[in-house]
Amino acid sequence: MTESISYDVIIIGSGLTGLRAAISAASKSNKLSIAVISKVQVMRSHSVSAEGGTAAVLFEDEGDNRDSHIYDTIKGSDFLADQDVAELLVESIPFEIYQLDHWGMPWSRRDDGRIDQRRFGGYSFPRATYAQDKVGFYEMQTLYDTCLKYKNIDFLSEWFCTSVLSSGNGFCGVTAIEIKSGEFFVIRGRAGIICTGGAGRIYSFSTYAYSSTPDGLHMAYRKGLALKDMEFVQFHPSGILPSGILITEGARGEGGYLINNQNERFMKRYAPEKLELAPRDVVSRSMIREIQEGRGFKHDSGMSCLKLDLTHLGPEVIKDRLAGIREIGSKFSGVDIINEAIEIRPVCHYMMGGIHTNIHGATELNGLWAAGEAACNSTHGANRLGANSTAECLVWGKITGEHAANHALKQMDVSLSTPLEQVSEEEKRIFDGIFRGKGEVNPYEVRKRLTDIMDDKAYVFRTENSLVEGLKDLRGLKLQTWKHVDDRATEYNTNFINVMETDSMFSVAEVVLVNALNRCESRGAHARLDYPLRDDERYLKHSLTYYTTTEPKIAWHPITFTRYAPVERKY
Ligand code: FUM
Repeated sequence: MTESISYDVIIIGSGLTGLRAAISAASKSNKLSIAVISKVQVMRSHSVSAEGGTAAVLFEDEGDNRDSHIYDTIKGSDFLADQDVAELLVESIPFEIYQLDHWGMPWSRRDDGRIDQRRFGGYSFPRATYAQDKVGFYEMQTLYDTCLKYKNIDFLSEWFCTSVLSSGNGFCGVTAIEIKSGEFFVIRGRAGIICTGGAGRIYSFSTYAYSSTPDGLHMAYRKGLALKDMEFVQFHPSGILPSGILITEGARGEGGYLINNQNERFMKRYAPEKLELAPRDVVSRSMIREIQEGRGFKHDSGMSCLKLDLTHLGPEVIKDRLAGIREIGSKFSGVDIINEAIEIRPVCHYMMGGIHTNIHGATELNGLWAAGEAACNSTHGANRLGANSTAECLVWGKITGEHAANHALKQMDVSLSTPLEQVSEEEKRIFDGIFRGKGEVNPYEVRKRLTDIMDDKAYVFRTENSLVEGLKDLRGLKLQTWKHVDDRATEYNTNFINVMETDSMFSVAEVVLVNALNRCESRGAHARLDYPLRDDERYLKHSLTYYTTTEPKIAWHPITFTRYAPVERKY
């Protein structure tokens, strides 16, 4: 007999968005019971590894202005962002920066005591608010501390959610496995928020934590909700070799140079004004061009790369403002950035796509919201600017927390239901289809092969051939007999979780490839060598992808324009 527990608001994911949403919901009413459910312990959410900053306009008295932040975001998005959503981000984020400050966030400060900001790619003004180069860690710590002040927030750490449940009225809960016991639960709820983060572990060379698999996206997709703009995957210019760990864009914001094997600052050829501080899609493409034209370096691992030179900044600046990446460089690349340039190459860092929502984060299922990187509310369009992600998490954590709380408060008299048929189907899918599955093929090897396919076939530059091959390889791999769990333990069965994660990776990787194949143009981070130009006639629209039992089904969705007509992007 499946056990059930109940909450008024269920938040799936405990990163920046989940914690901000929990505070927002809890502060609406102490009558609401709120669960933050996560497959990891809270402070192991991937948000803790955000490094460089949170973008906001703080210095209007010194010349910055909100219209400029809005326009930079929309231009950065290659005009695919919904312009009302970009406006809401920019209008809302300054409040969040000061709110965090009041909750104890140790922002880096200027000598006059005001919160400092550094330069970041694609912006017209230094706008990345920072805390040395460990922004995510300090933001998470501040939010977690604040959550602990609310008695009505419960943390269900190390619980793996597997499906969304619905009744005639919309969302009514989730199914989940308690990893500690291996038991299967129904968690009933009046309102839900999916904020499970990005899916970037579908690539091997990735800045994401190993836990960043698309479980939340998979759950929504299987429920019949659309995934939006999944072809747009961001490759950050500076992943170290061989691990892919991030060196923050803040390093270039502080004055770091990118150099090729001629010791030349090659970005002057590609973005003569912004140089290393052009948006990430532009810098990553320029780096790959340099490598293809023979001006790269060869790393010991065999991978080609370029170098990031910070030596001219001097030890004081590096120790004061970039201490985290100095430690990362020393421990994971054997390079002290004070003395030597460090080898880097473009690395999977962010998914612009996610669960389709409206401006308030509402999904297509009544009572269910999605926010943060798991969602696509269309703030970032085809290419996100650095430091706008933590901003998005905070802003839409607050907004969706409020909406979910209001929804739950209106339903307090309605009795919670359990859709038994959905629960038993899910139990069968998991325990018969996966836990007791049979097969010879090693699921860990399959997972690695899957991520290698994505690295090889859907990287910075794509072509029809590479994507067709990728899809063929991925679908062939999926048919192999990897869906089985060799470890029979019930408690802490990480074999089981690995196979569940791999299942979600297959679905979402397929959606990325199908969409990338279907968008026959180059826009933002989606660069097709066979369609090198942006095609506004045919593709100035969002893609939506729906699950079917055969192949992903694609539909289109209009962009919201307010004030800004598309123009050619130049930097
Ligand atoms: O480079 C960075 O610090 C990353 C920031 C971001 O993705 O927003």
